[in-house]
Amino acid sequence: LAIPFVRGIGGSSSTGTLLESRRPLPAPFTRRLTVPPELRPVPVGSDVDRFEITQRPGQVDILGGVSTPIWGYEGIFPGPTLRSRRGRPVVVTHRNALPVPTVVHLHGGHTPAEHDGYPTDLLLPEPMADHSGHNGGRTAVGRREYVYPMNQPAATLWYHDHRMDFTGPAVWRGLAGFHLVTDEEEQALPLPRGARDLPLMIADRAFDHDGTLLYPSNTDDLLDNPGVRPPYQAGVLGDTILVNGLPWPTTTVDGARYRLRLLNGSNARRYRLRLDPPPPDDRAFVQIGSDGGLLPSPIRHDSVDLAPAERMDVIVDFGRWRPGQNVVLTNDFGTGNTAHVMRFEVGDKVEDGTRVPDRLSGDHSTLRHTDAVRTRRMVFQSRDTGGAHRWLVNGEPFQPDRVHADPKLGTTEIWQLVGDLHHPIHLHLSHFQVLSRGTSGPRRSDHGWKDTIDLLPGEPAEIIIPFQDYPGRYVFHCHNLEHEDMMMMGTMRVA
Ligand code: C2O
Ligand code: CU
Repeated sequence: LAIPFVRGIGGSSSTGTLLESRRPLPAPFTRRLTVPPELRPVPVGSDVDRFEITQRPGQVDILGGVSTPIWGYEGIFPGPTLRSRRGRPVVVTHRNALPVPTVVHLHGGHTPAEHDGYPTDLLLPEPMADHSGHNGGRTAVGRREYVYPMNQPAATLWYHDHRMDFTGPAVWRGLAGFHLVTDEEEQALPLPRGARDLPLMIADRAFDHDGTLLYPSNTDDLLDNPGVRPPYQAGVLGDTILVNGLPWPTTTVDGARYRLRLLNGSNARRYRLRLDPPPPDDRAFVQIGSDGGLLPSPIRHDSVDLAPAERMDVIVDFGRWRPGQNVVLTNDFGTGNTAHVMRFEVGDKVEDGTRVPDRLSGDHSTLRHTDAVRTRRMVFQSRDTGGAHRWLVNGEPFQPDRVHADPKLGTTEIWQLVGDLHHPIHLHLSHFQVLSRGTSGPRRSDHGWKDTIDLLPGEPAEIIIPFQDYPGRYVFHCHNLEHEDMMMMGTMRVA
């Protein structure tokens, strides 16, 4: 994947460098949308769901007529979708058949620390297992069991690689998949299901002549350009928008309501999504959920912003377009190829029996300033320090076990987040609510329980975080994966 020093700035409203593919790309809307296969639990007792996943190299047909080598959970990209029920524990045994160590993180999971995928809690590859001698800390060899209690509400979670310094290239190569949690409350709602409940992982990539994925190589660039800051440290953007692993796919839909579980699985690209043409009332999306699960009540949007790692659970009623019409999911933040995402071909109107109730989840309390026992300030800033460019939290780069915050289990804190660029800030363990942005309240897309906030340059935000569930060592970081790999990450030790 080594390519020469990459120059140029791309993707308005995203921080990063645009990589341009070196081969012709398929015309938009020529590939049919696919949905990642669901992984069946291994049949065992009835009180726990056991899954087995092998992380291995794979060859996939992304562009049509050429195969692209990837790293995938089960050798596919996106990885298989896991489904869980609230309160029913899950054990996922990961086998590492890749040539590098990995770390698995369930993003949005309320997970005990030893299973959360701290960036140095490695799973070494199987072939290395024979020669590794001892291994310190929480390193596992060949296989590792991740235990998820799943004491959390219905939500769209995802799992992805999280190894220190290498999350960007590993996710870019394909190590990401959905993990959907349901519960009784959600099951009782008259929402679209089955084929009308679509998880959509939106992720940009770029391709070399031979169909391999382009990604800049740190080592090569540093050797070629000593002392020069590779600009892609600001983020890697591709010129090809994939949905569930295929470029600008198209799919037929009935004239009925669909639930679209939008996930921005991109390393650094932000999207402003819209449907074109818009429906008669302009309110294309009825948002029912955010990162942490269902909203108390639906929110209508004509467009939605999605920063890396954010999820937006929306209902779209395709019965509002006429049969035969093509509706394109567009991206206001893109230009040319990156200005569109996928297409829906609307079929005949059908009576589908679903609706969006005014009240969705009873699980919500709105947190207030007075609920917090303390306030911390976290500054996310990149800085040139005489040649080296560093990505810092409160002036410090990530270092395992350097503690940036020590919240107490069972207490609530307010964090003031300040950023110099676009930084999608993600906290492990706890979902939070957005209290304010700049001098105003939360944006329309900030409602509900969040685990990632789209922090904007020069606009400080306040979030309120109840530290519940588990003590231990967790990270919080920028989810622009190149910023994360360049150490824009901190440790919180929940006592
Ligand atoms: Cu989605 Cu710490 O990651
Ligand atoms: Cu960042």
